[in-house]
Amino acid sequence: MASGRSAYLNVMVDAAEKAGRSLIRDFGEVENLQISKKGPGDFVSKADLKSEKIIRETLEKARPAYGFLLEEGGEIKGSDAQYRWIIDPLDGTTNFLHGIPHWSVSIALEKDGEIVAGVIHDPVRDELFHAEKGTGAFSRGKRLRVAGRTSLVDGLVAVGDKHFRDGANLPLGCGVRRMSSACLDLCYVAAGRFDAYWEEGLKPWDKAAGALIVKEAGGYASEMDGGKNFVYGRGILAANPALHADLLQKLPQWCAQDSAKAKTAT
Ligand code: IPD
Ligand code: CA
Ligand code: CA
Repeated sequence: MASGRSAYLNVMVDAAEKAGRSLIRDFGEVENLQISKKGPGDFVSKADLKSEKIIRETLEKARPAYGFLLEEGGEIKGSDAQYRWIIDPLDGTTNFLHGIPHWSVSIALEKDGEIVAGVIHDPVRDELFHAEKGTGAFSRGKRLRVAGRTSLVDGLVAVGDKHFRDGANLPLGCGVRRMSSACLDLCYVAAGRFDAYWEEGLKPWDKAAGALIVKEAGGYASEMDGGKNFVYGRGILAANPALHADLLQKLPQWCAQDSAKAKTAT
């Protein structure tokens, strides 16, 4: 099937690409600001807010009745209680701030409490990942599929910033990356680039769009303990179905070991 997009997905793509163009312009400035004494902190906060404003205005124009859950602006109730947009206007802020070209924009659409569409845009590489519930996940017309590996040996996983500080000692038997854009980590699982990704303590806008993209690419996304509340619950575990089941068994012990190690280190 071609990536036939619904009208609302087109609006989401339009909003993400507009915001992406604004962020790319600002990203060009960040390098110059690194050398200033004050650093680029305030400038990046403004870039983030500008991105959110562009997304909000674009979506509002197309669907004036829908509500919002915005990372920066909080919750805005719409007159249509069925639908709301969940938005991360800049995911990977730390990377952006340091001039590292790995960050993204994420927009999800929630209908009656369920995520029905998601768009994640990486403006630096001009990659765009999207999914609608029940119709598959795509990147620029190409269908996305999670990796087929059923063992982590020779695989590659992504983890969050807060966990596994001592990555070298993980009992994984595979490569580990900490890329610091949760939204792109999820897209990379969907695209088969990472075999798995897990992270504690994320917020709804970090996961809503990306988890749908993983599911529509044939993967599983859940809370870290397997709970189904992957948007509002604690953390995320995303992988193909076989690895997801395997990791659900192993992660609790690894996390406990990691916390114990972190405690003895402090
Ligand atoms: C952060 C990124 C990062 C994750 C953090 C998030 P932000 O989002 O997704 O990868 O480790 O937990 O808060 O702040 O850059 O939008
Ligand atoms: Ca984020
Ligand atoms: Ca953000």
